[in-house]
Amino acid sequence: MLSIAVPKGRVLEEVNELLLKSGLIDEEINEDRKLIIEYPEKQMKFILAKPMDVPVYVKYGVADIGVAGKDVLLEVEEKLLELMDLGIGHCRLSLCGRANAEIDFGKMPKIATKYPKTAGRYFRSKGQQVEIIKLNGSIEIAPVLGLTDFIVDIVSTGRTLKENDLFEIEQIEDISSRIIVNEASFYLKNEEINHFVNSLKVVI
Ligand code: PRP
Repeated sequence: MLSIAVPKGRVLEEVNELLLKSGLIDEEINEDRKLIIEYPEKQMKFILAKPMDVPVYVKYGVADIGVAGKDVLLEVEEKLLELMDLGIGHCRLSLCGRANAEIDFGKMPKIATKYPKTAGRYFRSKGQQVEIIKLNGSIEIAPVLGLTDFIVDIVSTGRTLKENDLFEIEQIEDISSRIIVNEASFYLKNEEINHFVNSLKVVI
């Protein structure tokens, strides 16, 4: 049986669309309460995981395949086989702040983010010193509350920024969802994994 870790949340809908269109499943994976959904006739089971945990399951081989955003892959810094770009979950990782906020690197600005490693690499690559404050969600609250002046976060439609009077200052990365594979599974279940990936390729 092939086990596939998929992210709970907003990308799941697009994952379902691809899986149904490709004929890999006939009934969509729903986010009820059950966290492992089996399709015995298809020899597949899907693990509904927190997006940041998908690479962990794949790394340790409890999932042969994973669907993970590039944002997550950049942050976990694990060497995983990345087989294909699914072309879904499009968004960007950006530096954002309040209108007209001047970023003064001489004053070690504070940056709130769910992606401390990626943000750290970005500022280091520019030789800019910042203090990074890790938050786990609702990052846009940080400048509103005065915790930090800036954030590094995902921007999709831009609505959350707008609703919180924030603006995109600079785009750091282009994000989309990728297929990642456990290395041992890739050799041991090569045929099944190729079938899975090729079925998706047809509909992308
Ligand atoms: C993400 C991201 C932004 C929002 C951007 O949060 O962190 O807050 O989506 O989307 P938008 O540009 O379409 O408004 P998510 O919904 O994943 O939840 P989180 O705040 O818990 O990270």
